[in-house]
Amino acid sequence: MNILVVDDDEMVRYVLTEKLQESGFLVTTAPDGLKAIELFENTPFDAVLLDLKMPGMDGIETLKELRKHDPDIPVIMVTAFGDITTAVEAIKLGAYDFVEKPPQISRIMVTLRRAIEKAALEREIKVLGKSSEESAALKQAYQKLKELDQAKSTFLSSVSHELRTPLTSIIGYADISRKKLTKLFPESDGRDSKNGKIVQQVEENLSTIAQESEKLAGLIESILDLTAMEAGTVEWRWEPLSLSEVIENAAATFSAVFKEKGLEFISEVEGDLPLLKGDRYRLSQVMKQLFSNAAAFTEKGRVTFSAKQVNTDVVIRISDTGRGISASRHELIFEKFSQIGDTLTEKPKGVGLGLPICRLIVGYHGGKIDVESEQGLGSTFTVILPVEEAMKA
Ligand SMILES: Nc1ncnc2c1ncn2[C@@H]1O[C@H](COP(=O)(O)OP(=O)(O)OP(=O)(O)O)[C@@H](O)[C@H]1O
Ligand SMILES: [Mg+2]
Repeated sequence: MNILVVDDDEMVRYVLTEKLQESGFLVTTAPDGLKAIELFENTPFDAVLLDLKMPGMDGIETLKELRKHDPDIPVIMVTAFGDITTAVEAIKLGAYDFVEKPPQISRIMVTLRRAIEKAALEREIKVLGKSSEESAALKQAYQKLKELDQAKSTFLSSVSHELRTPLTSIIGYADISRKKLTKLFPESDGRDSKNGKIVQQVEENLSTIAQESEKLAGLIESILDLTAMEAGTVEWRWEPLSLSEVIENAAATFSAVFKEKGLEFISEVEGDLPLLKGDRYRLSQVMKQLFSNAAAFTEKGRVTFSAKQVNTDVVIRISDTGRGISASRHELIFEKFSQIGDTLTEKPKGVGLGLPICRLIVGYHGGKIDVESEQGLGSTFTVILPVEEAMKA
C-alpha cells in the first residue's frame, strides 16, 4: 500500500512516515499541494493523507486537483483541532474522512484501512458493472440496498429519539405511583385482607411496568448508540486511561450478578498494564457487555477474565463455561440483531446489538474482538487493543 502524506510541517511528515512504515505501508511525502500533484501524476497511490492548512495551495484546493486526476482516490484530511466546518466542506468535496491534529496514529490506521477497503470495493463494483448487463443490475441492486440501509438507520434513529421522552415519563410515573401506594398502604398494614392483596398486586404491576420500560430504554439507547457510531456522529472522548481500572470497575459491577447466579468469578488481570489512549466510557461499555453476555448465557460453572500485555497490545479475555456458540454463528453474532434466527429454541434474552456495538468501539480503538467457542463447551471472547508508542513509556 502506497500512501502519499502531504503536510507543510516537517515534524508531522516525519512522524507519520515512521509510524506508517512500521505498519507496513510505503510512504511518499510532499511539503505542499503543488509537489503533491506532481508526484500524483507519476505514481499510483492507494490513499492520501492531506493537511488542510498549508501555505500557498491549501488542502481544499489540493483535494480538488487530486480528485480531477483520480476521482476514486481515498483522501483523508488532517485538520486542526476544532476545524470541523472546513473538514465537512472537504468531505462534501469527496474526502473520505478527517482526523484531527495532533494526528492519532491508531485512528489514522483504522481510517486508512477502511478508506482503502472501500475504494477497492468500489473499484470491484465498477469492474463488475462493466463486465456485463447482469452486473449492472447487481450494482443497481447494491446501490438500492445501501440507500435502504441508510434510510432504515435514519428512521431507527429518529424514532428512537421520539420514544425516549415518553418512556422516561412512563418509568418515572410508575415509580412515583408505586412509592405513593406503598406510603398510603404500608406493608406493615398487612397484606392478607382482600384489599391488601389488591394493593400488593398493583405494586407488583407497577414494578413490572418500570422494569420492562427500563429494558425498552436500554434497547433504545443501543439503537441510538449503534446508528450514531455507524454514521460517525459519536463524540469520542480520547484520554490516557488505565485499562485495569476500567476492567476492575466493570467486574465490580457484575460480581453481584454472577454471585446471584451461583457462578464463580475469577480475575487474572496483570497489575501493571500500560496506559492506553481511549474512550473510558465506551471501553467500559464493551467490558460490561461481555460480562453481561457471560452472565446471560452461562447456567453453571465459572467466568474467568484476564488482561495482559503482549508486545504492543493489551489482550483481554473473558471465558465462560456456558452454552457456547456453534462455529457457524461465530461471525453472525457480531451482526446486528443476530439472535433473531435463534428464536426457535428459546425466547431471546436481549436484542442482539451488544456485540455489534462492541466491535465498532474496539475497531475505533484500532483493535479487534473475536470469539472462540464450541456449542455446549463455553465461550471465550478476546479483545485486542493496541498501545500507542508514546503511552508505553
Ligand atoms: N458468552 C456467550 N455465550 C453464549 N452465547 C453468546 C455469548 N455471548 C453472546 N452470545 C450469543 O451471541 C448473540 C449476540 O450477542 P449480543 O450481545 O450482540 O446480543 P444479546 O446479548 O442477545 O442482546 P443485547 O443487545 O441486549 O446485548 C446472543 O444472543 C447469543 O446468542
Ligand atoms: Mg449482549
